Amino acid sequence: MDPQDLEALAERMTTRFDHFDASLVHDPYPVYRAIRERCPVPSSENYGGFKTLLAYDDICAAATSPQRFASRHGTTIPWLGNPLPVVPIEADPPEHMGYRSLIAPLFAKSRTAALEPTIRRMVTEAVDRFAALGTADLAAGLAHPIPPVVLALFIGLPREDWLDFKDWVERILTTSAAGDMEGLFAVVGELLGYFQKWFESRRGTPGDDFATLALTGEMVGRALTPEEMLGYAFVLAVAGHETATSGIGNMLLQLGRHPRLVISCWPTGR
Ligand code: HEM
Repeated sequence: MDPQDLEALAERMTTRFDHFDASLVHDPYPVYRAIRERCPVPSSENYGGFKTLLAYDDICAAATSPQRFASRHGTTIPWLGNPLPVVPIEADPPEHMGYRSLIAPLFAKSRTAALEPTIRRMVTEAVDRFAALGTADLAAGLAHPIPPVVLALFIGLPREDWLDFKDWVERILTTSAAGDMEGLFAVVGELLGYFQKWFESRRGTPGDDFATLALTGEMVGRALTPEEMLGYAFVLAVAGHETATSGIGNMLLQLGRHPRLVISCWPTGR
C-alpha cells in the first residue's frame, strides 16, 4: 500500500476501527502496525461501539482475565444472535474447562496417532491424482477437499456420511462468504438435523466419537443439554474446517514462494 494511503487508513482506523474493512484483508500487518503506533486501544462507533486491543501484552492480560473480559456474553462484533450456545467459545471458567475436558479424549495422543495412517493415505491419494500431471491447483486438489473429511473422521462420523458432511461444511463456507443468508440457514438446518439423528443413533450404542462423549460426559457436575450438544457439534464442524483449509492453503503458498522452506520443514526419518 502507498505510504500516504497507509497513513490515512491508520488515522481513520484509530477512531473508527472496523475489522471487516476490505483494506485489512490483503496485507493486514502493516495496517495493524500503523494503527498500533498511533493508538494501541482504538475505539470505534461501528457495530454499537467497541474497543480493540492491539498490543500483545494487553491481549495476553485480557485473555487471562476472564472475570474482567468475559466470553459468555458473546465473542463476535457484531453479536451474531446465535440461537444455540456457542460451546466452548462463549463460556467462562469453570464451565469453559468443563466443556473442554469433556471432549479431551478426542484429542488424546493415542487417538490422533491411530487416525494418522488413514489421514496420510487420503493425502497421498490426493497427491497421486495430480502428481503425474506435473501441475496442480493445490487449493482445489488438497487444501479444500481434505480438511472436511479429516474432520468427519476426527469427530467420529460414520464413514458413509463423510461426503454429506463435506458438502454441508463446504456450503456453509460458500453461502456465508457470498452473504447468502437464506442458503446459509438452509444448510445449517440440514447439518443440525443430521447431528440430532447422529446423537439419537448413539444413545445406548456408544462409539469412539463426539456424540458418545456429549451424551455420556459430565461437565461441572451435570450433563450437557440437547442445545449445548448441538451447539458444540456445530462449533467443531465450523472451527475445524475453514481454519485448516486456509492454514494448508497459506502454508502451500508460502512453500511455493519460498521453496527453501520445503527442505527445512521436511520430516526426517520417516
Ligand atoms: C489450522 C487449523 C486451526 C487453526 C488455525 C485454529 C485456530 C483457532 C483459534 C485462533 C482459536 C481461538 C479462538 C478464540 O479464542 O476466539 C481456536 C479455537 C478453537 N478451535 Fe481451532 N483452529 C484450527 C483447527 C481446529 C480443529 C481441527 C478443531 C476441531 C476439530 C478446532 C476446534 C476449536 C475449538 C473447539 C476452539 C474453541 C476453544 C475454546 O474456546 O476453548 N480448531 N482455533
